[in-house]
Amino acid sequence: MNTSVNDLLENVPLFSGLQDEELTTMSRATVAKNFAKHAIIMREGDKTDALYLITSGKVKVVLSTGGGKEVILAMLGKSELFGEMSPLDQPPRSADVVAMEPTQLLVISKTDFINCLAHNPQMALKIMQGLIQRLRNADRQIQSLALMNIYGRVARTLLELAKPEGGRLVVGEKLSQQDLADMIGASREMVSRIFKDLSHSGYIRFEGRKIIVNEGLPGKPASAAKL
Ligand code: CMP
Repeated sequence: MNTSVNDLLENVPLFSGLQDEELTTMSRATVAKNFAKHAIIMREGDKTDALYLITSGKVKVVLSTGGGKEVILAMLGKSELFGEMSPLDQPPRSADVVAMEPTQLLVISKTDFINCLAHNPQMALKIMQGLIQRLRNADRQIQSLALMNIYGRVARTLLELAKPEGGRLVVGEKLSQQDLADMIGASREMVSRIFKDLSHSGYIRFEGRKIIVNEGLPGKPASAAKL
């Protein structure tokens, strides 16, 4: 168990600077946990303080009104961390985290995490870089919500999710129209209508579950108004 956990941790960028001994100490302290699709891993307001590393699957970080409306702040996959804010600052948890598919996590206690950080400036730096990346993404999300119309938000999100594949830009991950709607503060029906418009205008094309994105798709605040 520990060797395989060691291998897993070694391949996570955050832990790549750790010595073998530290990796072993860290891996001994982790507990693996499995969550079914839709399982709630943590809730906003929980007074817990462990850190989670995704070893397989995918989760979404969500804020909700309680009345069924939600906004997705981020979707995270293999080798990514979450729940780092409470151990570094203090509880409560800042958001809900929900499994989008069957997901396996390693749970790391606050004490082990803080001890490891205290001995590893490189690890502290990587945590800061990760937090800065999340702040940059949050800034972009605020910009989209405040300054772009819904067409522009759909376009920008598709461009951000798309990855080069065989010379094309492809959104390959399983993304429901409801997920996309929850990322941009729109209704599923609106997203469906915009998909039809973008498809008729030749900006996107569907191939099974994949969305092929035309690089000319306008996804910047200034051009969003033209859409
Ligand atoms: P914590 O507040 O401990 O628990 C909820 C977690 O959701 C939080 O730590 C972060 O790991 C994650 N989280 C909160 N806000 C964001 C965001 N804007 N982008 C990515 N992850 C986030």
